Amino acid sequence: MSQRSGLNLSVRFGDVVLKNPIAIASGPLTDKFTKIAAAAEAGAGAVSLKLTFVSVPFQSQMRTFSLPGNVIMSPTNKRLGIQQAEELMRRIKGELDVPMFANYSAVGGARDEWELMTERFLDAGTDLLEPNFCCPNLDTSDPRSKEAEDHGGASIADHPDVCAGLVATMRKMTDRPIVPKIMPSTRGALLKGCEAMRQAGADGVHVVGTPASGLPPLLDDGTPDMPLLEGIPQGSTNGSVCRYATYLSVAQVAQTVDIPVIGSGGLDTWHDVVDAIMWGATGVGICSAIMWNGWEVVGRMLTGIEDYLERRGLSSLDEIRGLALSNFTTPDKVALVDGHAVVDEEICIGCGRCLKPGHCEAIAMTDDDKARVDPDECIGCGVCRSLCPVGAISYKVKEKPEVAEVPAR
Ligand SMILES: Cc1cc2nc3c(=O)[nH]c(=O)nc-3n(C[C@H](O)[C@H](O)[C@H](O)COP(=O)(O)O)c2cc1C
Ligand code: SF4
Ligand code: SF4
Repeated sequence: MSQRSGLNLSVRFGDVVLKNPIAIASGPLTDKFTKIAAAAEAGAGAVSLKLTFVSVPFQSQMRTFSLPGNVIMSPTNKRLGIQQAEELMRRIKGELDVPMFANYSAVGGARDEWELMTERFLDAGTDLLEPNFCCPNLDTSDPRSKEAEDHGGASIADHPDVCAGLVATMRKMTDRPIVPKIMPSTRGALLKGCEAMRQAGADGVHVVGTPASGLPPLLDDGTPDMPLLEGIPQGSTNGSVCRYATYLSVAQVAQTVDIPVIGSGGLDTWHDVVDAIMWGATGVGICSAIMWNGWEVVGRMLTGIEDYLERRGLSSLDEIRGLALSNFTTPDKVALVDGHAVVDEEICIGCGRCLKPGHCEAIAMTDDDKARVDPDECIGCGVCRSLCPVGAISYKVKEKPEVAEVPAR
């Protein structure tokens, strides 16, 4: 898809410029040449190759609990060995015109493996290094071990010093951009880790919105509802359910660390992408939405972003990046606006859904089957609006009584 004239969707990480912010996130969409060709054809700004190891810790295949528009829980997935990944990267760089990220991992202490994969991916032509400190499925080490060096995947991200040490090692090996992908278990580790990696020379960070891990629901007999799998480790929890955590992680990093951010997790539509950018993201990673709805998702996102920019009379994403951050504050600094719900009786169809909220004593049905709100009982919580199927409910700001000017004594 070609970009509309007058619009600039490009984003930059170090020296690498992506034509648009949409990276296909490492995963089941990025483990074969044919899929990466489809991503390039769909107009993706970049593709992150499937997670790679020197020696794959355990052989596997993808299994999921999938609720479209909600969650993909996936406790197992196929990974690439370095030989296979290197050949794939070489072929992609030879035949396709799409910037590639190398997504690779080892336990925190296996410095030699990190170095070897970095060297081989650089040699094969990767545009950007995306060391993986984010996978919640990888850690087969003894969970009682407190040694950061023993742990893999997302557990590495809980140790900012280990992350920064690995970035520093890679920095010595190349000028190409390094954008580690992290999913620590605490906000403290997220912010400390991002700052430590920035100081170690990272050109960006890729943060994944978390619930991160979960367990699937059960069948009647207590078997996990995940076909073709016996036994269940904690499963990475991706998809729409992560969206708001993604906004939070992106905003927190964007507000505190001077580094470009890629956000992924639950960004399903152009609107979600624009929101992530307004919360401070430079780029976004997309996976589940394409697993559910196909490669056309990329084109729809790009068209939506372009329409949005044109509608607002803007020409580049730089003009909206971080726009929402001034709204992001601490709870002691927010101001409640005094107001109440109102029902537009012309629109109301009398379905009664807005009478359901158990906490609300403000809405009643009139004799002519129209919902009506008692402004004195309404606390302005916002729940009824989300229930109304026809958009009949809005909010009215209470007018402040005129305050008579009191003359100074
Ligand atoms: C089945 C599956 C496999 C994944 N494998 C990887 C991986 O190999 N490396 C990685 O960094 N992230 C992996 N992810 C995470 C995605 O790259 C992405 O960050 C995450 O799914 C959030 O985006 P989404 O909500 O758009 O899916 C995987 C996700 C899924 C669903
Ligand atoms: S805003 Fe909350 S309190 Fe007010 S009418 Fe709606 S549900 Fe009831
Ligand atoms: S949910 Fe909407 S349409 Fe239904 S009764 Fe309430 S205001 Fe009317």
